[in-house]
Amino acid sequence: ARVPPPQNEPILPYTPGAPERTALQATLQRMASERIEIPVIIGGKHIRTGKTDPVRMPHKHSHVLATLHEADASHVEQAIQNALSVKDEWARIPFTERAAIFLRAAELLATRYRPILNAATMLGQSKTAHQAEIDAACEAIDFLRFNVHFAERLLAEQPLSSPQTWNLMDYRPLDGFVFAVAPFNFTSITLNLATAPAIMGNVVLLKPSSTSAFSSWYIMELLREAGLPDGVINFLPGDGPTIGNPALASPHLGGIHFTGSTPTFQGMWRTVGENIHRYKQYPRLVGETGGKDFIFAHASAADDVDALATAIVRGGFEYQGQKCSAASRVYVPESLWPKLKARVQEFTAELRMGDVTDFRNFMGAVIDEKSFKRVSSYIELAKQGGSEATIITGGDADRSEGWFVKPTVVQLTNPRHRIMQEEIFAPLVGVHVYPDARFEETLRECDQTAAYALTGAVFARDRKAISTAMRELRGTAGNFYINDKPTGAVVGQQPFGGSRNSGTNDKAGSMLNLVRWTSPRTIKENF
Ligand code: SER
Repeated sequence: ARVPPPQNEPILPYTPGAPERTALQATLQRMASERIEIPVIIGGKHIRTGKTDPVRMPHKHSHVLATLHEADASHVEQAIQNALSVKDEWARIPFTERAAIFLRAAELLATRYRPILNAATMLGQSKTAHQAEIDAACEAIDFLRFNVHFAERLLAEQPLSSPQTWNLMDYRPLDGFVFAVAPFNFTSITLNLATAPAIMGNVVLLKPSSTSAFSSWYIMELLREAGLPDGVINFLPGDGPTIGNPALASPHLGGIHFTGSTPTFQGMWRTVGENIHRYKQYPRLVGETGGKDFIFAHASAADDVDALATAIVRGGFEYQGQKCSAASRVYVPESLWPKLKARVQEFTAELRMGDVTDFRNFMGAVIDEKSFKRVSSYIELAKQGGSEATIITGGDADRSEGWFVKPTVVQLTNPRHRIMQEEIFAPLVGVHVYPDARFEETLRECDQTAAYALTGAVFARDRKAISTAMRELRGTAGNFYINDKPTGAVVGQQPFGGSRNSGTNDKAGSMLNLVRWTSPRTIKENF
């Protein structure tokens, strides 16, 4: 291969006195006081639309970080025309030259942009330094490097030929443009949604999430500096339907690369259906849409109760439970529960929550008021649940300075309780304790409870129990972990994605995703 196989970017520790920590702290200070303007970007032009929205810090909501300029339907139209005007030129650039742009972006992000993207993710999305590092630095770098590598391997895949006949696959980009719609929770996903199609030669309209537009803006700066030609990725922050409706109604829609909620993706899919007669092609629909991710313990995990408690705390509460992979329902056999309950209570009591720029904190705030109200209503539901629902730890929230929700664990007698079924996207974990002898029935219960199938973890030492769980939960998770937490998939190691209501399972961080961004032409030539 011309592009050497990549390695995962090492996670820097940010220990006191470490150079990366000093650089990050200086950047945090500067950024918090700058109050930048975030424009719409079309064809490299920065457009201050004048329709503005303040960008606030979730952990200190009185602090305005930036002013976001929102796009409207006319900007979407301009962005589509601009993208189409640069499309052919971008597609004709040899792959190695396109690759160089993204590899350079990865290198810039590993060095000069590392504190920038990390600080922006901490301030704008309330991630701790470690959570920012594994997302905005490491995973984002990995997406760039590995996707270039996967794309090259894909391009090398050719059909059989003979001395008389040459058969070639010409990996063309899709017709039209790709509409990338990003979530707030991962800076790396925003980068991946836009760049994976672009690596395959597509032009992209990127609609960042309004609640993470701050770090998305720095992604655009990074790509510009790496040499991405104007117009290959146009940037359209703003209201979902205002931007989505004209984009989806365009005859030039070639694909959707989405991460976000199930209802939003289903709504987009419906709109695509309604517009199907307008399109010049069938748009590719690729979406990752949430989960109700589980941890399932078997009695044979008795010696691993500490590891299990750690998995619940880290899987459930890192980044305030706002990872699509976050553990949010737990099944525990009666024999393990007393010890596990005590451990979970001890561990959560030690967790510090607060301003993420204080490096001692393990958790920041949830993303916004809407999210705060939503989780508060579920906590209220638990409090009113009588004997059905017992709060094991947490249950408090404080909105005075930031959107802070204490890590909360609720024991539920009914495995079909709403807290065991619905995606809450916050630090709230439901636990159902089952009789040890009902292991298999409870596995089936776990499979049938939620409409999602993104991630899940099983804790067991007994090989037979592991294989029973593997069998009964075969359809319950696209990412299945044995004796580990269900979060933290690594690009190139655990390709990420789920089925059922969790998405189209086109595995981010694998060649399977890049396949979706090409429309190959098969060429046969007789000599
Ligand atoms: N890829 C992330 C994880 O595995 C979630 O999006 O935690």
